[in-house]
Amino acid sequence: MTKNMQEEIASRRTFAIISHPDAGKTTMTEKLLYFGGAIRDAGTVKGKKSGKYATSDWMEIEKQRGISVTSSVLQFDYDGKRVNILDTPGHEDFSEDTYRTLMAVDAAVMMVDSAKGIEPQTIKLFKVCRMRGIPIFTFINKMDRQGKEPLELMEELEEVLGIQSYAMNWPIGMGKEFMGIYDRYNNRIEQARVEGENKFLELDDEGQLAKPHPMMETSYYKQAVEDALLLEEAGNSFDEARIAKGELTPVFFGSALTNFGVQTFLETFLNFAPSPQPRITENDQYVDPMMEEFSGFIFKIQANMNPAHRDRIAFVRIVSGAFERGMTVNIPRIGKTVKLNQTTQFLADDRETVNDAVAGDIIGLYDTGNYQIGDTVVGGKSTYLFEALPQFNPELFVKVTAKNVMKSKHFHKGILQLVQEGAIQYYKTLHTEEVILGAVGQLQFEVFEHRMKNEYNVEVQMEHIGSKVARWIENESDVKESMTGPRSMLVKDRFDNFVFLFENDFAMRWFGDKFPDIRLYSLL
Ligand code: G4P
Repeated sequence: MTKNMQEEIASRRTFAIISHPDAGKTTMTEKLLYFGGAIRDAGTVKGKKSGKYATSDWMEIEKQRGISVTSSVLQFDYDGKRVNILDTPGHEDFSEDTYRTLMAVDAAVMMVDSAKGIEPQTIKLFKVCRMRGIPIFTFINKMDRQGKEPLELMEELEEVLGIQSYAMNWPIGMGKEFMGIYDRYNNRIEQARVEGENKFLELDDEGQLAKPHPMMETSYYKQAVEDALLLEEAGNSFDEARIAKGELTPVFFGSALTNFGVQTFLETFLNFAPSPQPRITENDQYVDPMMEEFSGFIFKIQANMNPAHRDRIAFVRIVSGAFERGMTVNIPRIGKTVKLNQTTQFLADDRETVNDAVAGDIIGLYDTGNYQIGDTVVGGKSTYLFEALPQFNPELFVKVTAKNVMKSKHFHKGILQLVQEGAIQYYKTLHTEEVILGAVGQLQFEVFEHRMKNEYNVEVQMEHIGSKVARWIENESDVKESMTGPRSMLVKDRFDNFVFLFENDFAMRWFGDKFPDIRLYSLL
């Protein structure tokens, strides 16, 4: 591989922002794009009110699919780095896609609302990042408002998420009294509401302001200096290796809306966020990003981007090498080769045809039905497969039937294809073989219903059976149907494995007490 190409790959930083709705992810993304020069004014990426980021809009097909595509992956250059931000929809869009997107990144930024602390959606997404062992950077947002005490927030991080933290900076006051941040990492104070040269104040070796300044007389400053000392003595130490493994999260305080601390965060983040990482194959071989041969895997398929063409786009994370238009790749799962002519890369403002995508980047392949989620695509003569993407524990379930029984053939064909695509999970009851669908987010059902109608011409009837706790069984042969009760169901998944669906955690524990020999396990 040429030196130039190696440098290109090493410059990539691919990450996702995880957060609970309303923590400020959209606002943050907008500010990052602004610094990256991808938008001219902070404010041109419309907020969720105007719908730009609400991918659920993609149900309303006329509302142009381009929007959700461009917001799926955003790319900009900053300080010699090419940054790819992958969207992980929160809100009503939460689905398995959201989880799978985290399989395609090398780092995550966790946004936390300083008044709310760690919220449920964040916990779920955090767990997926944790499982992958990727570095997680924390941005505690909305310091311009009164929130929880910083030490309390740090404690919450460690207790709720079980990750150790290192405060890169520390707020000086908050809300109306927010004076800025005590930047431990850069050894300076960054003042709020001050622009230009005076924004930064130097600290001396004792961690005090090097030159006299009115701020020194305030209780907020004194508190921050004291806290910083306390953190120095009793807190975790900065450890780059532990950050890289996701064992220690660097924490930044700031305010996305007032654009405070965002640029400092971005610069520090880009310093420590990893360049593209190797991926592992089914046979435990590492594929290094610098390998000459192109390879990648599909982590998401979005259908009907353009209703007139009934097209689908398969999102590929490039693992190694470089993409060249017109190149031929293998899809080892089906033993087919395809020529990649039609592709897109995702830029902030427009879809553009890819020309220089390398390991770390995301490209979109136009798909006429060749691809499945999790597929490996590889150039040259190689036929290896990347490790399978994990399956996620569904939480919501519906019973589904075709409104018109005459359409049963189409109904089953549609379900089969959508299940294979990873759009939804399939289960069936034991004798009657009624179809039950599982999802991690409500939107998946809506998309399913919509696509069955539009793509397979079948209207479906869905009966909500609510949220359930799904558990698979290690010792399947010991399971008997008589073990089910009014608060549990025994079904089979699409691979014909038994699955218990419990009404709630209580019902699951009751089962565990009654049948201690049955070893249940959960997917992710
Ligand atoms: P999300 O994508 O994570 O859901 O959050 P989003 O950026 O849409 O922000 C949610 C709300 O929080 C927005 O207000 C936004 O302006 C506000 N916000 C984001 N960052 C900060 C911050 O640093 N300080 C303060 N005070 N507010 C912040 P909204 O009124 O719900 O929406 P909008 O009218 O601004 O669109």
